[in-house]
Amino acid sequence: MIKNIAVISGDGIGTEIVREAVKVLNKTAAKYNHEFRYTDVLMGGVAIDETGVPLPEETVKVCKASDAVLLGAVGGPKWDKGAGHLRPEAGLLGIRAALDLFANLRPVKLFDVLADACVLKNPGNIDLVIVRELIGGAYFGKRRTYADEKGARAAYDTMLYRDWEIERIVKVAFRLAMKRSGNVVSVDKANVLDSSRLWREVVWEVYNSSEDYKGIMLSDMLVDNAAMQLVRAPGQFDVIVTENLFGDILSDEASVLTGSLGMLPSASLSETGAGMYEPCHGSAPDIAGQDKANPLAMILSAAMMLRLSFDMDEEAGDIESAVERVLAKGLRTGDIYRRHDGTRLAGCTEMGDAVTAEI
Ligand code: IPM
Ligand code: MG
Repeated sequence: MIKNIAVISGDGIGTEIVREAVKVLNKTAAKYNHEFRYTDVLMGGVAIDETGVPLPEETVKVCKASDAVLLGAVGGPKWDKGAGHLRPEAGLLGIRAALDLFANLRPVKLFDVLADACVLKNPGNIDLVIVRELIGGAYFGKRRTYADEKGARAAYDTMLYRDWEIERIVKVAFRLAMKRSGNVVSVDKANVLDSSRLWREVVWEVYNSSEDYKGIMLSDMLVDNAAMQLVRAPGQFDVIVTENLFGDILSDEASVLTGSLGMLPSASLSETGAGMYEPCHGSAPDIAGQDKANPLAMILSAAMMLRLSFDMDEEAGDIESAVERVLAKGLRTGDIYRRHDGTRLAGCTEMGDAVTAEI
């Protein structure tokens, strides 16, 4: 198969990890007789430097015309002083909205061989997916910074949800749960927020709307409790569905269960168009350019692209088991390295090469 992939390397460690993922993809293409055609496009800080805006029109155009988008990371201290709409992060939110990527899937899986890198003493089996609504809520609601009538500096953001925005993300979670163990926890703050009360109401309406969902075990959980349960007993979760900001926070929290944020891939999907695949971590400016980054979240994101956008299940599985074998052999980047017999510290390039060699 021939597939067109838009590549946004972005800033910081973005370029380094994308390079490794592309290596792995090319080896996979060669093995399975596919052709992946890459088009590099600008977004984030590099785009600001080169074009003056974080998300050039051209980037949106190329991404829309591609079969999928691979994204490294954007952002860095260099661009932190700019106005809100001129920050690298505005590019990321812009592309999510432009491609209508409302569903963000963040699988959190602890590989057996990394059990000792997990922060929990007895982690047990951790294999859950956070389904995060990605283009609504406080990230996209009305906002303002102003001086109030008494001269105090004030600012607000609005967390707004419409019923159809909740419906479509909940359906994604239900469909996913039916392919897994069928347990869905919907996370909200319905004891305080109106938007959460609507969220909860719509979740149950969707659940009761179809016989298809009867096999699902659905429950609600307040977000503060969910934050606690994730580190207390993560084994209870299968699919977590939640709004944008809660999902952002809970996914960083959940990532440390896998040993490191550097292990967490993600897929952002629309109803029909190109999906975007990116690690959950940021651009890590502190280690950028030093060959220290963990490329595995990026590589696992590429595997998700093969599975979810290209229907290449076997190829995706091949990459995932290659990652597992490399870890089993003891190779570790700094973020997951715990000094003990049998493991060895590796750089970003060496890690990427090792996974590529396992394909
Ligand atoms: C993420 C990131 C982004 C978000 C930032 C970089 C805007 O934290 O993908 O989780 O908050 O969505
Ligand atoms: Mg985040």
